Amino acid sequence: MRGARVLAVALPAAATLAVLAAGAALFMVSGIYDIGADDHHTALVTALIGELRDRSIAVRAQPLALPDLTDAAQIAAGAKLYALHCVGCHLAPGVNRSDLNRGLYPHPPNLAQQAPPEARRAFWVVKHGIKMSAMPAWGRTLDDAAVWELVAFVRQVPSMTEEDYERVTH
Ligand code: HEC
Repeated sequence: MRGARVLAVALPAAATLAVLAAGAALFMVSGIYDIGADDHHTALVTALIGELRDRSIAVRAQPLALPDLTDAAQIAAGAKLYALHCVGCHLAPGVNRSDLNRGLYPHPPNLAQQAPPEARRAFWVVKHGIKMSAMPAWGRTLDDAAVWELVAFVRQVPSMTEEDYERVTH
């Protein structure tokens, strides 16, 4: 008797799951979803990816030891690296657009206007990059000290004028 009652619940639940899985598979193979970078994700997909990204980064960035990021030589070294590797996507004081930046989705934050909210998070993202976005893993080419130099610089850049940026990158 008890077994029959369990089956009466389990069978419809399993059938519902099977229908949902088949629906998801059909949606995927149909090609309906536009993966082009010139079309936005739906609000639901944006929210899901955003939460996945933020939690993934938070868990990995939290244990990092935060070095001093106020040294002028460190900031100047970061500025030169930034001008070499980052400005095409993230812009800079006096660099308000680029052909590369315009077509990227997710759109790179304009770091000339807004410093990243948290230094450890910025370090982790610069070192490891972000999957399915244009943000590269710079840890493949730069050592940790250079990545911290970049972080030290991006914390300062929104308060810099065009002239400050010119001076520090040359
Ligand atoms: C080819 C384009 C591209 C280049 C080059 C690039 N980035 Fe990014 N970056 C991105 C994109 C796109 C995002 C947003 C990714 C996302 O939110 O999914 C991003 C995000 C970031 C963030 C924000 C992380 C956060 O808190 O969400 C920081 C900081 C950053 N990049 C720093 C840099 C630095 C420093 C460099 C140079 C060493 C650099 N990026 C080079 C495309 C680029």
